[in-house]
Amino acid sequence: MDKRFVYTDNAATTPVAPEVLNKMLPYLTSEYGNPSASFYGLGQRAHAAIEEARKQVAAVMNAPFAKDVFFTGSGTEADNMALRGFMHSKTAKGKKKLITSTIEHHAILHTAQALENEGFKVVYLPVDNTGTVDLETLERAIDEDTALVSIMTANNEVGTIEPIAEIGRICHDKGAYFHTDAVQAFGHIPIDVQAMNIDMLSLSGHKINAPKGVGAIYIRSGIMLEPVITGGGQERNRRSGTENVASIVGLGEAARLKALNMEKESEYVRGLAKSLRDKILAKIPQTILTGHPENRLPGNSSFAIAAIEGETMVMDLNLNGICAATGSACSTASLDPSHVLLAIGLSHETAHGSLRVTLDVQNTPEDVDYIAEKLSEIVARRRAMSPVWKE
Ligand SMILES: Cc1ncc(COP(=O)(O)O)c(C=O)c1O
Repeated sequence: MDKRFVYTDNAATTPVAPEVLNKMLPYLTSEYGNPSASFYGLGQRAHAAIEEARKQVAAVMNAPFAKDVFFTGSGTEADNMALRGFMHSKTAKGKKKLITSTIEHHAILHTAQALENEGFKVVYLPVDNTGTVDLETLERAIDEDTALVSIMTANNEVGTIEPIAEIGRICHDKGAYFHTDAVQAFGHIPIDVQAMNIDMLSLSGHKINAPKGVGAIYIRSGIMLEPVITGGGQERNRRSGTENVASIVGLGEAARLKALNMEKESEYVRGLAKSLRDKILAKIPQTILTGHPENRLPGNSSFAIAAIEGETMVMDLNLNGICAATGSACSTASLDPSHVLLAIGLSHETAHGSLRVTLDVQNTPEDVDYIAEKLSEIVARRRAMSPVWKE
């Protein structure tokens, strides 16, 4: 097969959709008003554009009021607001305990650690070997001192979707508030903050074909978050700073398009990813699928491939024009493989052979054939040279 360029790292980021860019362009050129400048049309139109985007984002998660959506500079910032802002808020009523899971993104884990350093108590729930949080363990962990539970909607490495509606119900039955990091899930799978008892939800633009550097947080009415960024009082005092109007408009349009096409797109992407998994598992011996066998994000395929280093795989794939990811240690600053792979019970050795391929709508069946073929060639060649490989 001729060399192609195949982008399969859509969990890392996605390209900006042309429709999204078109909607944004006026706000980078002629419509440059400051949304707080309410005395003339230019400012009023920028303000109106933000409010339209707020409605679009709110609609995708069935938020009861658009005003409960607040724009941020990233998913990371939304996660920081949820954890820091809530634990320091009056709504937390002085309770000191935060419950989260061992497989969260570092935006949650490092924020939780910072809160621990301030004197809060943090419980990290384990997951089973599919990456799923156990509901009984959660139920037992919530006590009178628990202010907040934060569990991601879906995992960014292994793609497992958590039982969010059940988690929300347990939290509310036991008097705790519930935040979910939906950065990987929003726009890809249905989310309903009302039906799922979600009090706060984080999302990010660049995972749904909006630009990087814009995100949002849903905060249920009545929750009084302590602001993390103070200043001019924008975003109803929750997040000061002149709004990134063009990117917010892009996020609104991207959210609208994702919701409009979700059923069709997710069916297509799920089919592609399944075919990729079937091909790779059939072609490459001693390969396991990581994450949940069915209950996973549509585009996510993640593997542990024996006797080959993840970093070697992604570099060899790159030589063939394929962009993919690994949670192997060498690709990160630490010596340990990704905390997620260790949390689902993989040994260090197995986790070193991790590969994540995240497909999206721009990928084709030809891409799938190309990836499967190139990967099996790469693995066979590297294994032939490996002193540890045994058939
Ligand atoms: C689950 C999860 N949470 C948070 C983030 C951070 O989002 P952002 O890149 O917008 O800061 C990411 C990004 O990869 C993510 O996958």
